[in-house]
Amino acid sequence: MSVHINTNVENIAKTVIMPGDPLRVKYIAEKYLTNPVLVNKTRLSLIYTGLYKDKLVTIATSGMGMPSMGIYAYELFNDFKVEKIIRLGSCGSYYDEIRVRDIILVEKAFTLSNFSYQYDKSNIDLVSSSKNLNKKIIETAMKKNVELRIGNINTSDLFYNTYENPKIKENFCLGVEMETFALFYIADKLNKEAASILTVSDNLVSKEILSSEEREKTFDEAITLALDSIL
Ligand code: HPA
Repeated sequence: MSVHINTNVENIAKTVIMPGDPLRVKYIAEKYLTNPVLVNKTRLSLIYTGLYKDKLVTIATSGMGMPSMGIYAYELFNDFKVEKIIRLGSCGSYYDEIRVRDIILVEKAFTLSNFSYQYDKSNIDLVSSSKNLNKKIIETAMKKNVELRIGNINTSDLFYNTYENPKIKENFCLGVEMETFALFYIADKLNKEAASILTVSDNLVSKEILSSEEREKTFDEAITLALDSIL
């Protein structure tokens, strides 16, 4: 039990896969887990625990943005003794050649927000994923013939904006999303492991956007990559 998650510690696995959208959480749990059990529905932030190929795993909702990710990642790591969280999300691409459907494995998350200052008065704006977890994801992707783009991501506080700060390109960000920095920062502070696998859902140069049908098919590739990486 924690402030925002209404279940017992033993109902949450040590490894968590974390999409932003609660309906995607439900979809993954029902399609890929045996005996999925809904263990939290407070605020409709759905959390399921079940078996994936004999491994106990929890699929949990992060919600949108760093404030929401900050709450759930902190409580899962701190109150539920979770060891590893893999974010499974979407992002916009800053480059024409990084197309919709491409999968990005995040190396470092950059942010213009002051999340780290508010957390512990530091001024960190670039934070790494867990090396171990990324290594496992890369090995799994090679086995499964899944092509990955590996690089940095900008974690923004805004979905709608009109100004692109030059620091984003200076920090080699391939694209933009809204949660990864918070996850990596908290994992780093609590000595836990975190990774982020992002499917490009929109290209900010060509304006191409994935249709919902295509989105489902592509997300399946990222979902099985995340699940097979934790076995
Ligand atoms: N901006 C921010 N977050 C996102 C985007 C975007 O274009 N696409 C998916 N998540």
